[in-house]
Amino acid sequence: MKTELLSKFLELFGEKPELVIKAPGRVNLIGEHTDYNDGFVLPVAMDKSIIIAARGRQDQQASIYSLNFNETALFSVDSFKKGNSWADYPKGVIQEYRKLGEQVSGFDAVVYGDIPIGAGLSSSAAFEVAVAYLLAKLNRIKIEPLEMARLAQRAENLFVGVNCGIMDQFIAVLGKKGHALFLDCRDLSYQYASIPADEVSVVVCDSGIRRGLSDSEYNLRRSQCEEGARRLAKVLPGVKALRDVSLEQFQEHQGLLPEEMGRMCRHVITENQRVKEAVVALNEDDVVRFGQLMNQSHQSLRDDFQVSCKELDLLVEIAHSVDGVLGARLTGAGFGGCTVNLVRNASITLLFETVKKKYQAETGIGPAVYPCQIEDGVGKIPITA
Ligand code: GLA
Repeated sequence: MKTELLSKFLELFGEKPELVIKAPGRVNLIGEHTDYNDGFVLPVAMDKSIIIAARGRQDQQASIYSLNFNETALFSVDSFKKGNSWADYPKGVIQEYRKLGEQVSGFDAVVYGDIPIGAGLSSSAAFEVAVAYLLAKLNRIKIEPLEMARLAQRAENLFVGVNCGIMDQFIAVLGKKGHALFLDCRDLSYQYASIPADEVSVVVCDSGIRRGLSDSEYNLRRSQCEEGARRLAKVLPGVKALRDVSLEQFQEHQGLLPEEMGRMCRHVITENQRVKEAVVALNEDDVVRFGQLMNQSHQSLRDDFQVSCKELDLLVEIAHSVDGVLGARLTGAGFGGCTVNLVRNASITLLFETVKKKYQAETGIGPAVYPCQIEDGVGKIPITA
């Protein structure tokens, strides 16, 4: 596909690009709906990505051709409006650089992504981060990786209008080959934990169900969690977010919360605990324990947080029927999209075959199943195809 990207660039702009940038999608191993509660997450950067070939321009026009949509977005980097289209992502990033007082000049670009859209693998964060990196290079803007992740998140929150947490943009910037990233979403401190690739693999199963009402449902859950934390803070001084509430404290005071809000909060509180345990398990090479925690995470997302759907539950159930699958859970925001599976290497083929056969038979949908290679975060790649 890179060849096609480069030939399109040549066709449209008459010369080779100045640089090519690649930013990965993400698969979260555990820690779902915890990032916006100041909690913990453990994502990996995957081998599906967004690639942008680009060159700077002397004027202030941006001309971006999308190979996925077969269309060009043409706008002035000095003045633009939200268009409810894919071009909102670069526009949001430009706006955030402007707010920092940075100069952004026009540019020509061709973009292509193989991260399925709306599948919970963060194609939007990858796009924002790729553009943030590109514009920093083209305009010689000095920005630390952590600030770049924050800037890309603000583009999503403030321009695109989705109130997401920091996880997706953070891993798209700071992902590391062969490693999961354990991130404290409050102070953004992080550590890498290596995945024992000689023993296990991360396999993604795409349900084919695309998120429908996800943005409103997502924002609703976020506000329920925030309201839950406010109510608990009345009896637990010092609580700023659900991250600060222990399970014991929650159990003592859950009567203060309406039933649904209580369930949401319980998910976040138990999930934070699971992420911390999962990191310990990984550091001790205890993949069996890690898998159990993934399974518990799915149950909690399904029953307490209620962001699963019958297709995701089915994928998890099928995975559990395969010997050598250690853990399976929905990954990302939920409401459709993908599951992530931790599977012994010897059982990968069996998992593929079983999921394809049983899921197709039950739903009529042919699922996409693929092993996820764990890659680095955003960076330049060679221009030649
Ligand atoms: C989406 C958001 C993330 C995170 C997950 C759920 O991917 O973009 O910030 O909240 O959902 O864990």
